[in-house]
Amino acid sequence: MTQLYGKPLVTQEAMRSRIKELGKDITHDYHSQDLVMVGVLKGAFAFYADLVRAIRLPVTVDFMIVKSQANQRKVSGKVKVVTDLTEEVTGRDVLLVEDIVDSGLTVQYLTKLLSKRKPRSLRTCTLLSKPARRQIDVNVEYIGFEIPNHYVVGYGLDYQQQYRNLPYLAVLDPKGMDAE
Ligand code: IMP
Ligand code: MG
Repeated sequence: MTQLYGKPLVTQEAMRSRIKELGKDITHDYHSQDLVMVGVLKGAFAFYADLVRAIRLPVTVDFMIVKSQANQRKVSGKVKVVTDLTEEVTGRDVLLVEDIVDSGLTVQYLTKLLSKRKPRSLRTCTLLSKPARRQIDVNVEYIGFEIPNHYVVGYGLDYQQQYRNLPYLAVLDPKGMDAE
């Protein structure tokens, strides 16, 4: 089978150490005794598992399963919540955990949705950000890595539901890249 991805863009070691730093920053910034971490599935599962274990605060874990048009590489901005949270978030400190902020449409949609439930605070943490692709200027308080405008896979991120289990981040089809 043809391998559709190249060598690591971000290695497993770099991921691990950056996520530990993010965990420290979050632990330091929050004085909350009631933090709810909202993981956006499926893409955020690997990052989420590392991040939650790097945070030294009482944490409630919860998840949302969403499907965005962006997953099909369209930009209509429609986000569908397939499975909602099981927890109430009213009056609690909510941290939204995303795999990647690309156009910004998903984060905008989810922060609007969660704001309506009147959390005490709401912030966003993303493993990756592609600033060159941004269509909406969204607030993202914690960013693991800013990456160039390439389609990436691994560490939870997929191409047609494959490669989520790659232990590092790689560019899909590097032969299509200008630099190659
Ligand atoms: P948005 O454009 O910011 O709404 O990003 C929506 C979603 O598109 C992300 O949560 C990812 O699931 C997916 N996505 C965007 N860029 C990539 C990529 O480079 N690799 C894999 N998934 C991506
Ligand atoms: Mg996603």
